[in-house]
Order: sequence, then structure tokens, then C-alpha cells
Amino acid sequence: LTEEEKEKILRSIRTIPDFPKPGIQFKDITTLLNNPEALKLLMDHLEARYRDYELDYVAGIEARGFVFGSVLADRLGIGFVPVRKKGKLPYTTVSEKYSLEYGFDEVEIHIDAFGEGGMCREHPAKVLLIDDLIATGGTAAAAARLIGKVGAECVECCFVLELSFLKGREGIDAPVYSVITL
Ligand code: PRP
Repeated sequence: LTEEEKEKILRSIRTIPDFPKPGIQFKDITTLLNNPEALKLLMDHLEARYRDYELDYVAGIEARGFVFGSVLADRLGIGFVPVRKKGKLPYTTVSEKYSLEYGFDEVEIHIDAFGEGGMCREHPAKVLLIDDLIATGGTAAAAARLIGKVGAECVECCFVLELSFLKGREGIDAPVYSVITL
């Protein structure tokens, strides 16, 4: 992506002050999703980047990772797997906790999401984890651990936006790629 193209994607994302609580500058990607030119720039870029990774699955984090992840999986001709907040997935799940400012949250994945034992054609499934944004990195780190827990391999964690001052990538035990770093 050229700087100009990155700028176009960034400008398509709207910032909402004080949402969901005072002091938070919320990055609203709905304005990227409903902008076909910006969305195509982004998805063309991700498709080109991951075309040669020989991935078996794309796993997306609830909720906005579902959108980017599904589009990318379809473009790569592979399956999509949702990582969900606790209590949403109907079959047997594996879960991981992560710390919040106060207390903790939990994400889950189906135990057989990447095949039995995480195996795909006799090797651990190669999985790309994707989400819209990395802030503290707690959610993505837990999701990456989940992929390992069910026997697959998290090849990379990909984000549309990275809030680099929060140093979230440092807590993730996999390579991290972000399209736009703030
Ligand atoms: C946001 C974002 C990431 C996560 C990043 O999701 O989409 O999933 O927070 O934060 P972290 O790096 O500090 O863990 P949110 O918790 O708002 O959930 P939602 O997508 O279900 O609304």
C-alpha cells in the first residue's frame, strides 16, 4: 500500500469521542465497511499479503474481526473460524481468560474448529488471526493462545489498526502485522 492508499483507508474510519465511555476515542470502522473503494483497497492488500502463506484458516475475533476475516477467507478460498465472547458458541469450546482494567473477560473457540486436534492434512492447521484493532492486545493474545490450545498454529495476527502506544503487540506470542499504525 502507498502512503496515499493508507491515508485513504484511515480517512474512511471515523473517530467517535467519549464512546462507549468518557475519554475513549472509538475507532468506528462501519464507515470503512460502507465505503467500497476503501474496503477494496484494504482487502486487495490483505489478499496479496496472505496469498502465499499457505494458510488453512482465517480466525476472526468478535465482532468486527468476523467481517474482515470472512471476506479474506473467501478471497483466499479457505475456511473462516469465529473466536467469540464466552457463552456464544453452541458446541464444545475451549476458553482463555484475559485481564481488563477491572476484572477479566473470556474468549472461546470450538474445540474442533480447525479439525480434530487442530490437524489439517497431517500438519497443525496454519491459522491467520484477524481483528479490526489492537489496543492493549489482551483480546488478541488470548485468541492466539486459544488457537494453540486446540492444536493449530497461529501463523500471524493481523489488524487493520494498531494503537502502538499501548504496546499491545509485545504480549502476543506470534508475529503481528498491522495495516495502519497510530
Ligand atoms: C475491541 C476490538 C478488539 C478489542 C481490542 O472489541 O474490536 O477486539 O477491543 O482491545 P484490546 O487490544 O485492548 O484487547 P470490543 O471489546 O469492543 O468488542 P466487540 O467487537 O464485540 O464490540
